[in-house]
Amino acid sequence: MVQQVLLLAGDGVGPEIMAEAEKVLAVLDGHDGLELRLEHGLVGGAAIDATGKPLPEATLAAARDADAVLLSAIGGPKWDGIERHLRPERGLLALRAGMGAFANLRPVMVYPELAAASSLKPELVSGLDILIVRELTGGIYFGQPRGIEQRRGRRTGFNTMIYDEAEIERIGRVAFDVARKRRGSVVSVDKANVLEVSELWRRVMTDLAGEYSDVELRHMYVDNAAMQLVREPKQFDVLVTGNMFGDILSDLASMLSGSIGMLPSASLNISGRGLYEPVHGSAPDIAGTGRANPLAMILSAAMMLRYSLNQAPLADRIESAVRRVLADGLRTADIQSGDGRPASTAEVGDAVAAALNEDLNG
Ligand code: IPM
Ligand code: MG
Repeated sequence: MVQQVLLLAGDGVGPEIMAEAEKVLAVLDGHDGLELRLEHGLVGGAAIDATGKPLPEATLAAARDADAVLLSAIGGPKWDGIERHLRPERGLLALRAGMGAFANLRPVMVYPELAAASSLKPELVSGLDILIVRELTGGIYFGQPRGIEQRRGRRTGFNTMIYDEAEIERIGRVAFDVARKRRGSVVSVDKANVLEVSELWRRVMTDLAGEYSDVELRHMYVDNAAMQLVREPKQFDVLVTGNMFGDILSDLASMLSGSIGMLPSASLNISGRGLYEPVHGSAPDIAGTGRANPLAMILSAAMMLRYSLNQAPLADRIESAVRRVLADGLRTADIQSGDGRPASTAEVGDAVAAALNEDLNG
């Protein structure tokens, strides 16, 4: 069965890291019954330049048709001056919303080879394996009303942090279900001591826990969660939270793993179709220099094979190939600890493709 994948290379380092993911997919294509039809589309600044819109209708239609969407990153200073509703970020948010991709899974793993690259002491992070489950299509990112307007003679900006119980329950279920397949523990992060929206969040999570007696649920305020992630990160198995808290905590948690350049993500809708993207942004400052770490992108392709294309064994192979390349000492600058010339984006991608090739074809 041919599976259709939409590739959205986006902006900044996006096209460079996408090229490396494509090398990896090319090696896998044809193995274990995998048959891919790859299609390219425009999103973000690249789409603004070509069509005037950050998410052209054709891209959203192709994304809805595809079995999975692989996206690099969007945005950059070139488009920062544009009206807010036409900015690259709006394209990404509209794509997530348009695909109904409400469940954002952001695994934070520390490869033993990279424990020294972490901002924390190796003993605090080695063997770390956290899954952040971030609600992605609601909360303050999408709440109405929102805007900037004159009030009592002053410019006044406002947003609305809002969740209804159905939205909380459906992301809660994702967290509880996945915790069952892991170490059976969920920490739900909120700000229930101050915010009503969090008070409801906490109540719904507590009610839901009644259906999952085999999973342990703890609640944590978001400020404390930020502290605990740095103090004793291994206490976490699954961490579930709303859109904005998840945005912030996942960047924080990325540093545990050594580099945000290592973190992939999956954003799934109710039917299991998804959008796969690195957690990091488009890094316009290093675009075109060959310094970007392609591993988050390549690992996002692995998540895509696992969650949307039903090819878990091939996903495992990608992940082992990445580990082999790291064990061989090949590192881009962001994860290098010693001296020596850092590897380039393409060198790392080539090495992963070669390791896979050897694994598959001997
Ligand atoms: C992320 C990013 C996005 C977000 C931006 C680019 C809109 O930071 O995926 O974490 O805030 O969700
Ligand atoms: Mg973010």
